[in-house]
Amino acid sequence: MGESEFSAGDEGADRNIGGSVSARKIGSLLASGATLQVNQLPRMWAPVARFCRRLSFETGLPVDSRLHLTPPSSWSFPYHYDGFSAFIVQLSGSKAWDLYSPELENPVVRDGVRAGKEALDRFEQEDPTLSVTLSPGDVLWMPRGWFHKVSTDDQPSLHINFEFWPITRYWLAQQLLQHLGEPVDEFSNFRRALPPGIARDREKLAAVTSEVALEMSRVLADMSTDPVSVRSMAEIRKMFRSPILAPAVSLSPTAVGVDTPVVMVSESAISVERAAEGSLKMDFGDSTLLIKEPAATLIGNLWKSDSGQPWSARMLMSDLSEGVAVGLVRRLMRAGLVCHA
Ligand SMILES: [Fe+2]
Repeated sequence: MGESEFSAGDEGADRNIGGSVSARKIGSLLASGATLQVNQLPRMWAPVARFCRRLSFETGLPVDSRLHLTPPSSWSFPYHYDGFSAFIVQLSGSKAWDLYSPELENPVVRDGVRAGKEALDRFEQEDPTLSVTLSPGDVLWMPRGWFHKVSTDDQPSLHINFEFWPITRYWLAQQLLQHLGEPVDEFSNFRRALPPGIARDREKLAAVTSEVALEMSRVLADMSTDPVSVRSMAEIRKMFRSPILAPAVSLSPTAVGVDTPVVMVSESAISVERAAEGSLKMDFGDSTLLIKEPAATLIGNLWKSDSGQPWSARMLMSDLSEGVAVGLVRRLMRAGLVCHA
């Protein structure tokens, strides 16, 4: 659907602002049977953002979320499968799900893929592998690649997905291939141009393709994969949601005092490790924080215990001066690692 079908920017004071959602257009579309899908829900709903971050912390996988509002007596999408696994959480109304086992194991797709003729023929002949109606509070686990179709009864239905996007071996293979473009001598052959006129010479292209495939297998077998794994680690960490930050703490000296109760938000850090010189290195995906001893051990233990218990800067004062302890808590709050209790 084109953006202009649901966006405003053509009325009153909004005349010059494109891209804002038009509630009137959305209402008309819903009334005509369309399903409203809100992508990237963590960007606009803090509790969902926190929950996604928590799921990521517990599973070690990036998690995204989106919302679906489906009108009464509607099929929101025809049979299709998705490239992610998801928890489906029914919030309001009910929704009937028919699921069929996959034709392709572990599909690598970004967008949903509609069922082809062969699959549709199978669905005509077989009962669904699972047929279930979700009511508010029900949760369904839908594995990646399973065909599904959903429908509503005579009431509107609202559900949200918590989606687990797989980081595949194919993705890692792409990182390895990308490495062949690095400006080093051993990869110089890959920087050579293809012969002129290749667009007119299918045989020539086939011959060069074989040469490149051979060269790739030779170079990939011999090369050091360390730089690729280091870069891939950074890329993977960027796939995780950023912590929920408290930037205004920078402005107010009274936002955190020595007895201000705070709690550790352990899920804000994707990984915590000891750097070579003994500092605690906390990785947030889009940034890192280094904490030196003696605070490193204290903060590391608080992070690991993940207890949700309130504490304050005073607790750090057996090892740190008051000013340093309060400064550290403020720094952790700006990074999103602690919040007000
Ligand atoms: Fe789907």
